[in-house]
Amino acid sequence: MTRERSFAAVLADRLYRCLNVIGIHGAVYYLVREDIDAEPPRDPRVDRGEFTVCFLGEDDMASIGRHPDREQPWLTETAMRESLRKGNRCIGIKHNEEIAAFTWFNCGEITYPPERRRLEADEAYLFDLYTLKQYRGMGLAPIVRAEAYRAIRAQGRTRVYSVSEFFNHASIRVKKKLNATFVHLGICVSLFNERYRWKWTLKTRACSQRPSRV
Ligand SMILES: CC(C)(COP(=O)(O)OP(=O)(O)OC[C@H]1O[C@@H](n2cnc3c(N)ncnc32)[C@H](O)[C@@H]1OP(=O)(O)O)[C@@H](O)C(=O)NCCC(=O)NCCS
Repeated sequence: MTRERSFAAVLADRLYRCLNVIGIHGAVYYLVREDIDAEPPRDPRVDRGEFTVCFLGEDDMASIGRHPDREQPWLTETAMRESLRKGNRCIGIKHNEEIAAFTWFNCGEITYPPERRRLEADEAYLFDLYTLKQYRGMGLAPIVRAEAYRAIRAQGRTRVYSVSEFFNHASIRVKKKLNATFVHLGICVSLFNERYRWKWTLKTRACSQRPSRV
């Protein structure tokens, strides 16, 4: 079991998979509002040129898509090229030209099915945060996220949302370190490929804002 996956997370994952086989999909998740005004100090590793932060383009998608680490369906080259084509933006951090971590955002809609909606003119949605396995635990996800905040602010947008699944401890830790607000804890169950969907809000202001340790 890795550091990012607790016993409960592994159990929940197995349960989800079993339910998926019989056509039932479920998710327990936080809707998160990220604090894009938070200006985390620049990381000395970026200042020293050890890591570089930049927008990623078509060529980078090919490189991520070929990486042996890839484990999620949205990490294929085709899915990521398609995402760029739709106008989504991707910011990454590189080490010796190798992509170490990245995150996506868009200003059009929240695409996570239970929360799907068009965004207002001052809103943005952050998604698909990913750090390659050999770079995890090095504090790179908060760096790319903070860079995305700068890009979103430059577009005049002030309210930014994302989603973290309840059992995704690492994702929740990153957002706590960035001072995010956990707007609500939701649960969603759907049947027959999202044909029928039920959604409940279990708790509002679902998590304390500050990390217990940073
Ligand atoms: C979530 C994720 C992006 C975090 O990236 P990261 O660059 O490792 O972020 P951090 O270095 O800030 O570490 C965050 C937490 O991951 C956990 N972690 C630490 N070392 C780790 C390692 N070697 N392997 C896995 N997780 C580790 C710790 O809980 C850490 O919190 P801490 O700093 O308070 O100890 C990364 O784990 C990942 O890509 N996961 C798979 C995709 C995913 O779940 N994305 C989130 C979608 S919202």
